[in-house]
Amino acid sequence: MKVLVIGTGGREHALALALSLDPAVTEVHAAPGNPGIAEVATLHDVDPMSGASVADLAVALVVDLVVVGPEAPLVAGVADAVRERGVAVFGPSRAAAQLEGSKAFSKEVMAAAGVPTAGSRTCTTTAEVEAALDAFGAPYVVKDDALAAGKGVVVTRDRDEAIAHAVACGRVVIEEFLDGPEVSVFAICDGTTAYALQPAQDFKRIYDGGRGPNTGGMGSYTPLTWAQPDLAEVTLEQVVRPTLAEMADRGTPFVGCLYVGLALTEAGPRVIEFNVRFGDPDIQPVLAVLESPLGVLLAAAAEGRLVDVPAPVFGDGAAVTVVLASAGYPESSSKGDVIRGVGAANGVHDVDVVHAGTALSGDSLVTAGGRVVAVRARGYDVDDARSRAYAAADLITFDGLQRRTDIAAEPLGVVEGASVR
Ligand SMILES: Nc1ncnc2c1ncn2[C@@H]1O[C@H](COP(=O)(O)OP(=O)(O)OP(=O)(O)O)[C@@H](O)[C@H]1O
Ligand SMILES: [Mg+2]
Repeated sequence: MKVLVIGTGGREHALALALSLDPAVTEVHAAPGNPGIAEVATLHDVDPMSGASVADLAVALVVDLVVVGPEAPLVAGVADAVRERGVAVFGPSRAAAQLEGSKAFSKEVMAAAGVPTAGSRTCTTTAEVEAALDAFGAPYVVKDDALAAGKGVVVTRDRDEAIAHAVACGRVVIEEFLDGPEVSVFAICDGTTAYALQPAQDFKRIYDGGRGPNTGGMGSYTPLTWAQPDLAEVTLEQVVRPTLAEMADRGTPFVGCLYVGLALTEAGPRVIEFNVRFGDPDIQPVLAVLESPLGVLLAAAAEGRLVDVPAPVFGDGAAVTVVLASAGYPESSSKGDVIRGVGAANGVHDVDVVHAGTALSGDSLVTAGGRVVAVRARGYDVDDARSRAYAAADLITFDGLQRRTDIAAEPLGVVEGASVR
């Protein structure tokens, strides 16, 4: 099987690595990719946002499967363009990607499907905003309806700040505050059937102890030994299957990864958000412990025959990912700083250096984004994986390097607490 991965970040590198380990996968291609992905795939300089260009490439390469990594191309309809040319795609249509593209749409689907989530109101006027804020009370949760690259949500006790964010966004979803640790459950969906992957946790704040601004994610781990053992099954039953049924009823079946962000509240799991792709870095440790062939699984989902392949199996061990970010992140990022030690870290047994924002400048690997690389290690348990990840991360240096020291040291609910500024 030949597979083409669309995207350029750590998620796509982790996917390309896992695909390259599947004996059924004979070739991995990526567009546009990055220097890490180039070690396991052939890169093609194609715009990931252009459905026509991606579809042309897929047809020219005669690939059996296209995996679209990021949300922006999915919301723009890139999967539709590929599917129209008769190539199997893992990733939802433009219509189904609205589960991430519009928070109001996702809340409407959740309500229709009876999925447990925060109570909410969609508001467009200041009067509606004020009424909703007062109805739910503090802490206030205000979400931009549209895709905002992780910057659309404000959680605050300051009513004026909540109103200002709502006004700046235009159309917002205002919702009830959910109290409890956050977890990520990824469901592989073929439109009607779904398999859940092993749950993971993602550390979002830039500084230790859950301080500082939100980021795309500073580290992650799996398994969640402290969580209820049936969390994945409960999520399938209460969230994923009803959502798939509702989307199919609407004539827009969901094919791809449904990322269920959950708050584990005292009343039970509640959906914080849906995304329509794998989360990064939370998918990284999950793929490290996945024992089933990833290409076989994603191809079966893309072709609507998930029932024909066995449910994914995970190893007994654990995996931890520690992100190394560049100076200024998350407000800005620094480019062109020489990165040293990636080869040494990669050479450590059970460690992978996953590239997120790197580039080649001559023969040197240099920084090219906020999150630069992630060091992922497997271990016997979370503590073992954690010490291996940090030991390997110590081998990597670049100017202005930022990393947290407490990834997977404690469950996120303990370290970060309620996410109110
Ligand atoms: N109802 C809620 N109660 C408490 N905290 C919330 C709530 N909704 C969101 N949050 C906090 O805000 C963060 C961002 O919210 P959400 O995941 O909906 O936004 P997003 O911008 O789509 O995120 P992502 O970039 O992960 O897709 C959550 O991870 C959570 O910490
Ligand atoms: Mg989201």
